[in-house]
Amino acid sequence: MNANEKSILLQSNQLGVMRDLFERIIENKGPLGKWASQAEGYFVFPKLEGPISNRMKFQGKEVITWSINDYLGLANSPDVKSVDAEAAAEYGSAYPMGARMMSGHTDSHEQLEQELAAFVQKESAYLLNFGYQGMVSAIDALVSKDDIIVYDVDSHACIIDGVRLHMGKRFTFKHNDIESLEKNLERAKKMAEQTGGGILVITEGVFGMRGEQGKLKEIVNLKKKYNFRLFVDDAHGFGTLGKTGAGAGEEQEVQDDIDVYFATFAKSMAGIGAFLAADKGIIDYLKYNLRSQMFAKSLPMIYVKGALKRLDMLRTMPELKAKLWENVNALQNGLKERGFDIGTTTSCVTPVYLNGSIPEAMALVKDLRENYGIFCSIVVYPVIPKGLILLRLIPTATHTLTDIEETLVAFSAIRSRLENGTYKRLSAAVAAAMGE
Ligand SMILES: Cc1ncc(COP(=O)(O)O)c(C=O)c1O
Repeated sequence: MNANEKSILLQSNQLGVMRDLFERIIENKGPLGKWASQAEGYFVFPKLEGPISNRMKFQGKEVITWSINDYLGLANSPDVKSVDAEAAAEYGSAYPMGARMMSGHTDSHEQLEQELAAFVQKESAYLLNFGYQGMVSAIDALVSKDDIIVYDVDSHACIIDGVRLHMGKRFTFKHNDIESLEKNLERAKKMAEQTGGGILVITEGVFGMRGEQGKLKEIVNLKKKYNFRLFVDDAHGFGTLGKTGAGAGEEQEVQDDIDVYFATFAKSMAGIGAFLAADKGIIDYLKYNLRSQMFAKSLPMIYVKGALKRLDMLRTMPELKAKLWENVNALQNGLKERGFDIGTTTSCVTPVYLNGSIPEAMALVKDLRENYGIFCSIVVYPVIPKGLILLRLIPTATHTLTDIEETLVAFSAIRSRLENGTYKRLSAAVAAAMGE
């Protein structure tokens, strides 16, 4: 605690029962923030340097990067970068100024929307500046206080936060559990009959932590019985799943039954921005009611032009998706052959589940990075149950079979060391080295 923080605490103690707003913030840094002193710069906020690719630099050393959602390898494509550079030279980063409704609208925004709609097989699309904010705002716009939301309990934070804005009733269903969904739809239906509202079901095309696809086909089968509309966040499915890359709905042959489709440009498009796609009447409504776009500056032209180029590559270069899946299959099969538990993934997202404590997980990840040159994300309690370690690998089209082989060898080695107690012993040393 620095002198300023101490003085805030002192002042607030003298104020009787009322607390200074910052007192709680200083005392309690939150569920993730409390790990900052041990984790920052290494486990969280790490700096990956060099061109975005299969191998980057971490703290000056080359690592195989398994934590970047550049699924199709577009981030460092010379063609993509030259379109980005040309757009920057022509428009700068400001154009167009203002919200779409007021002064920030262009032919290129419209063109991108038309092309996106066609790509995901919907009538119409609407651009969003950021996926997260857009999703929050879309949920807010789609429901009134009389409507009921039913959503998967493991949903991404943008869905959770969108639901928080909802003034009416909401129910969660157990993750990807159709029986639980039905139970909650029963409740929702009864409630909607009282309020005179409708039901919105929200789920994901692919759940980004464990890699399972949302059970869209089974969900769609319940539509007739419960008369709901379906909103799917397909951040990880767009560009990676389905015959043409249109996502999880196409993969499961239910794209037409998704009433509102969402995807971000932040993953397979290796850009920034996002979009919603639906029937024209719904998009027309959203254009006039989606607060994150009505009251915010339009998506800058650099990103619009960049997204047009990336989308063109998604459409015309199926070899990128083919290469991605060659790598996904090589990695996932290799892990399974070596007896690793990769859960129930049905997408590119490749989780590896191991048993161990948080300090063991930290020692293990340090070993992977320092001694094997492998950089992957680590997920621990409370995101997953206590005692489990989830190492999350994101294969991309830029990975090579050598990267995969080296990773498999490294994973076998770290598993033996985890099982023989090496990390239990090392974790004390790791904590000491990190200033604990
Ligand atoms: C499932 C899901 N939805 C939404 C988002 C947010 O998208 P954006 O990064 O464009 O804000 C993400 C993360 O990028 C995501 O994984």
